[in-house]
Parts: sequence; structure tokens; C-alpha cells
Amino acid sequence: MIIPHGSDKLNPLFILDESKRKELIQEAEGLPSLVVSSAAAANAVMLGSGYFNPLKGYMNKADSLSVADAMHTTGGLFWPVPIVNMVEDASAIKGVKRIALRDPNVEDNPVLAIQDVEAIEEFSDDDMAFMTEKIFRTDDPKHPGVAAFNSVGKTVISGPIQVLNFSYFEKDFPETFRTAYQIRDEMEKLGWEKVVAFQTRNPMHRAHEELCRMAHAAVGADGILIHMLLGKLKAGDIPADVRDACIRKMVELYFPPNTVLITGYGFDMLYAGPREAVLHAIFRQNSGCTHLIVGRDHAGVGDYYGPFDAQKIFHDEAPEGALKIEIFEADHTAWSKKLNQVVMMRDHPDHTKEDYVFLSGTKVREMLSNGEALPVEFSRPEVAAILMNYYQSL
Ligand code: ADX
Repeated sequence: MIIPHGSDKLNPLFILDESKRKELIQEAEGLPSLVVSSAAAANAVMLGSGYFNPLKGYMNKADSLSVADAMHTTGGLFWPVPIVNMVEDASAIKGVKRIALRDPNVEDNPVLAIQDVEAIEEFSDDDMAFMTEKIFRTDDPKHPGVAAFNSVGKTVISGPIQVLNFSYFEKDFPETFRTAYQIRDEMEKLGWEKVVAFQTRNPMHRAHEELCRMAHAAVGADGILIHMLLGKLKAGDIPADVRDACIRKMVELYFPPNTVLITGYGFDMLYAGPREAVLHAIFRQNSGCTHLIVGRDHAGVGDYYGPFDAQKIFHDEAPEGALKIEIFEADHTAWSKKLNQVVMMRDHPDHTKEDYVFLSGTKVREMLSNGEALPVEFSRPEVAAILMNYYQSL
């Protein structure tokens, strides 16, 4: 199986040994504690899952600035976005060496992880502006990722962590939430060596479905890992349980049995386009995948990124050999009225715009809110019915 990023063996930070975990949970109750931001909690879940291998915890100021600037830590590890625990005010833990991190997303803020505090440092306004511009390629406060990154404070608490649970993800998505090590185990059982990962934060329409099929065939993969985001999204995006139901229905009806694993990970969407695509590649490699599909406007929002910037970054900014996983670069994919099937536009230079069925996200929402059925060229009817139900319940 493909090796993880940055090490030969995956090193998830969740404490797998149950008695050790119980001991730590007890210890945590007596430690000074902080309720962390949703972003920091999501980072802990990803570190616990092994997705952020080989990181041992939260980055310090120098590593964060280096990663934002040049996509590597001060020690030279290839990494695209700072993995940080930032707070407004750390005065309550001044001089403390070990702290409990409390979960902002679960009632009564239970302890999520224990952190050894190596440093407490401040980012200046210039540091924040610099990192924001580098990560998101914009400083527009209307960009949801920019807004989230700049809303949690400028004090950065760095150091290794021990993760004690997976926040709300295991309980809310028992069938779907999986860690990187669970996915590796599952693939090993299935005998899958070559695996194509599909990142998604949407219900899967026909273009998404066909992208998976095309990538699977093109690379001669043993299977497809559909890997959906289960964390927070911007207002108006479709909740994870609805997306999960849509995806399960589509796979059940339109894919041969045992060719797809439907899974999800516990992270909040950054909407960082190209930089997030690189992070996506790292954590799919950590999950044992050999290929990641990167298509049009991957992890983008609005028109902050060019449609294929998330592919270009792998050529222009990732050093040769930085990643073992390969990128399956997909062109814009849509229904061809001429051929009566979903196609990739680069394969059909004879087509004009009018030969395709396009539907913007806004248009889709508008139709469903008005009770209008989505065209079968765009969405499988069984998927469209689930979405219609959801929109009509709002
Ligand atoms: S994302 O934010 O998770 O990237 P989404 O779930 O919509 O959003 O997309 C999942 C993947 O499918 C991304 O790689 C994206 O680039 C790709 N994709 C979505 N729609 C199309 C399309 N019509 N043509 C080509 N690629 C697409």
C-alpha cells in the first residue's frame, strides 16, 4: 500500500489503547483547560485520525509562517496550510505545560485532546494578513475561509497533542465517519492497491458520478473512495446527512457492488481552493489512496480562484516528489446533448457551449426551493428526490 506522507508508517494521534485513554481522560479533568475554536477542534480530529500524518500536534508561529509562505515547515516537511490552535486570549494558561482542549461543538464542551504546550506566541496583524493572502489568495473578509481564519484570535498555542475522541463525528455519522487508519485497514481487507479518491462537499450529481467512473477506468483502479467532508460549511451549503443520503442512493443504484467505499472525514471546509487541494492530496495519501480527482474549481468558492488553479498548484508549486499520490486532473464535465451522456469537455472539441446542459448551484437551489424537478441530465432522479425533500422541508 502507498506509504503515508512524511513517514513510513501512519502515526495517528488518537490514543488507541483503551486503558491508556481512560487514564488520560481522568488526567484531563484535572488539567487547566481551554474551549478551542471549531477549526482547532477539527484539526485535532484530523490529527487523531492519522489524516495529518506526520504532524505531532499544532504548529508554532515560525512553522505556520513558513508553511503559509512556501508550503513547507521550518524542518522542510511539505505542507500547504498552517495547522494551528489559535485563541483570543491564553492568559488563563500562562506558564502551564499541559492543558486539556475542550470541544466547542459538543454540549458541555467535553475534553477532546490533551496538549503539551511548547510555546504561546502572538501573530502580528501583518503576520495574519500575510498568511491570509498566501493561503486564500485574497484578503476579502467576505471569503468564508478568510473570515473564519481571522475570527479566532491571534495567539497561537503550539505543541504535540493526544486525541481522546472524534468530537461529534462518530456519533452523528457512524456509518460514514472513518479515520485514515480505518480506511487503510478496509482497503487492505478488500485487497485494493490502486484507489482513486473523490473529495466532495456536495451531493453527487451526474457529472460527479461520471468523474469517478472516468478516473476509475483511466487509472485502472481497484476501487473508488468517496470521501466527503462532514464538518462545517458556509451558510446555504447542503448538510452532511442529506449529502450522505444522496451519495449512498447513487452508489447503490449506479455503481457495481464492492467498487466504492463511502466515507467521510471530520474537518471544516476552508474554501482555500489550490492550497486546500494540496491538503486534500496529503490526507488521501495518508488514507492509502494512490490517486485524487481534482476537477473544476476544486475546494473553491465564488470566483476567487481560476477554474483549474487547484490543478496548477501541483505543477507550479509542489516540488518534484513531494507527494506520492497522483492527481487525476479532470476537465469540466457535463451532459452532452449531442451524445446523450456526461462527457469531459476536452474530449469533445467539436462541441459548443450550447451542446451542454449547465446548471449553476444557484439555479439548482432555486429550482428545488420552487418545487421544480431537476433535469435528469443533471441529477439522477432518486438523488434529486432526496434533495427536493430537503429543500421543501426548509
Ligand atoms: S469541493 O469543494 O469538494 O471540491 P464538489 O464536491 O462540488 O466541491 O467537487 C468535488 C470534486 O469534483 C472536485 O474535484 C471538483 O473540482 C470536481 N467537480 C465538480 N463538478 C465538476 C464538473 N462539472 N466538472 C469537473 N469537475 C467537477
